[in-house]
Amino acid sequence: MPGPEMSVCEIERWLREDDPQALATLWEVADELRRRYVGDEVHIRGLLEISNNCARSCAYCGLRAENVNLPRYRLTWKEILEGAATTAALGWGTIVMQAGEDYGITREWLAEVIAEIKRRTDLAVTLSMGERPLEDLRAWREAGADRYLLRFETSDPGLYARIHPPLREGEPNRLEQLEVLRELGYEAGGGVMIGIPGQSYASLARDIAIFRAMDMDMIGVGPFIPNPDTPAGCGELPPLPEGEQVPATDRMGYKVVALTRIVRPDANIPATTALATVNRREGRWLGLQRGANVIMPNVTPRRYREMYRLYPGKAIPEETADATADRLAKQLGEIGRTVAAGRGDRRRMLC
Ligand code: 5AD
Repeated sequence: MPGPEMSVCEIERWLREDDPQALATLWEVADELRRRYVGDEVHIRGLLEISNNCARSCAYCGLRAENVNLPRYRLTWKEILEGAATTAALGWGTIVMQAGEDYGITREWLAEVIAEIKRRTDLAVTLSMGERPLEDLRAWREAGADRYLLRFETSDPGLYARIHPPLREGEPNRLEQLEVLRELGYEAGGGVMIGIPGQSYASLARDIAIFRAMDMDMIGVGPFIPNPDTPAGCGELPPLPEGEQVPATDRMGYKVVALTRIVRPDANIPATTALATVNRREGRWLGLQRGANVIMPNVTPRRYREMYRLYPGKAIPEETADATADRLAKQLGEIGRTVAAGRGDRRRMLC
């Protein structure tokens, strides 16, 4: 039986498991722990993609600075406040503001935006703005931001270096930056991509053990989706030999969601857009039934959505109108779940 204390070797064995009966056990254990620790309520976070400008050159991501095939945009003050108002009006408790690492968004400007959202709504504010300097992170926390998402993508130092060139010599890696976010008083969210070319089963098992060791508040995982406008998406990163390379499938995604729930039973874990993209019909719902307790519908103004192209084919259902918020509640009801009221902060439980 998989359990919270699993060793890295046991986690790896589960990642390699393909027997349908054994997997049914994995899903059941994850779903039961999810129910016991975070309940049947699903927290809905409105995802507002505030800019697709990016200073970085990550090998996998379509927002990378070198990608000239992407028209760039940045939301205005007014558009951001409208996104927050929409999220609050739909009864969702959190707004997530995400962007590329865009230094056109200044420390002072975003601090003002955060403070204004806090004045006008009761929303929790989550930021996902990349690897910004300490002073920016501190100012945004002081302005009222509650949480920060920064996936570390992989804990394998060699692979990390290949997919994530530093902006400056000697900059801290994302695991180190997550510690800083913690110290600043943010709820901190990490996570990884599943099936990046060069990612081994052993290293993915270590990633999951790190979620446990670092006691992460939020953990987002999803399959790698090749973007032809990036080096990783046009064959420049060599995969490992078969048997060692993690496949970027939805099934592997559910395994990682389930194992993550089992090792971190009280964390907030989303069924991600990438999971919904590799299995459009069922990805989100199976994610929720195999360990996840959060979804992040897109509230970005429609005319920009196509431009926030981390990868092609992104599943962005039309879910901001009232009618669709109702549909979401109905769909959740069909799998025995309810829409959570309130902000959905992490509630720590002894495991
Ligand atoms: N496939 C899947 N996920 C991706 N991300 C970025 N590019 C891709 C891709 N090609 C994920 C990264 C990043 C998050 C915002 O989106 O994990 O941290």
